[in-house]
Amino acid sequence: MELAMTTSEKLRSKPDDTSLGFGTIFTDYMFNMDYAPDKGWHSARIEPYASIEMDPATMFLHYGQGVFEGLKAYRTESGHIQLFRPQENLKRLNRSCRRLCIPEVDEDFVLDAMKHLIEIEKGWVPSAPETSLYIRPTIIAMDPFLGVRASYTYRLFIILSPVGAYYPEGFNPVKILVTSDYVRAVRGGVGEAKTPANYAASLMAGEDAHDAGYTQVLWLDGVEQKYLEEVGSMNIFFVIDDEIITPELNGSILPGITRMSVVELAKHWNEKVSERKISIDELIQAHASGSLKEVFGAGTAAVISPVGQIKYGDQVITINDNQTGPVAQKYYKAITDIQYGKAEDPMEWIVPVI
Ligand code: COI
Repeated sequence: MELAMTTSEKLRSKPDDTSLGFGTIFTDYMFNMDYAPDKGWHSARIEPYASIEMDPATMFLHYGQGVFEGLKAYRTESGHIQLFRPQENLKRLNRSCRRLCIPEVDEDFVLDAMKHLIEIEKGWVPSAPETSLYIRPTIIAMDPFLGVRASYTYRLFIILSPVGAYYPEGFNPVKILVTSDYVRAVRGGVGEAKTPANYAASLMAGEDAHDAGYTQVLWLDGVEQKYLEEVGSMNIFFVIDDEIITPELNGSILPGITRMSVVELAKHWNEKVSERKISIDELIQAHASGSLKEVFGAGTAAVISPVGQIKYGDQVITINDNQTGPVAQKYYKAITDIQYGKAEDPMEWIVPVI
């Protein structure tokens, strides 16, 4: 498939790298591609960043049939730009597509288009410490139709956003609230797909958490409300004695790429790492007995995010004296050193762009 390009008449001014937040600034160009049953995915093009015109009956707007991804491009000290495991994001995009009845994409073609877009936008990849260019591939259902069925037509787009830390806390510990009032995903539902519905389902609990002074929600499973699952925008890890534990993928947890990277690095280093069920009761007991050493989140946007406090009902537990612990520190450094090209890449996770 050809990749067409339309250039922009007017370029935007670039932000100050040292004061970037998350997800508010977008670059000059985007990638677009359409799907129709008789043409397949077609009309791949890089164009000036622009609004997408939609019929008010567009199916995505009514029934949420859509999927997305999140990954980042990093600038190295020598000025190169590189991606971290982008093939994993594209594989997950296609898994999400299958769950949402969206036609799959050619992963190699989309990766090439993404690299091309980033190359054009290389001036937007920030260089201040801990900044990157966030990449958001998205697919939405485009049929103008009010009946409930899978759409016949789709739009895939990729937009880019220079970002700093996701949480205002940066790498300092965040406080999270375990909710029993709501669930994010149910058995057989769409929990493991990266689809807007999961994030919409999380909003009310997220607001309650904020009102109570917490950064995010830690979800319990949707069946028994007993097992820990994930946080709103990242997966979760617990260090109990010398065991690093993350909830096993069970169909309702998002299979995070940073999560997978922590598990693979731990295995590479011969550390004791388990993907298993962990209940809120086990967590509270581990805290009471002094064996809960650390809790941290892992996600593309959040990277590694230490958790300093967890509230469940009336109980508030403080972890590692509300300080970043050595395990979170070690994985944060190992992963970001690979991402920013400061360390060897023993796992071959890096894909160069330029
Ligand atoms: C990411 O970590 O990239 C995510 O997609 C989480 C959130 C910003 C939606």
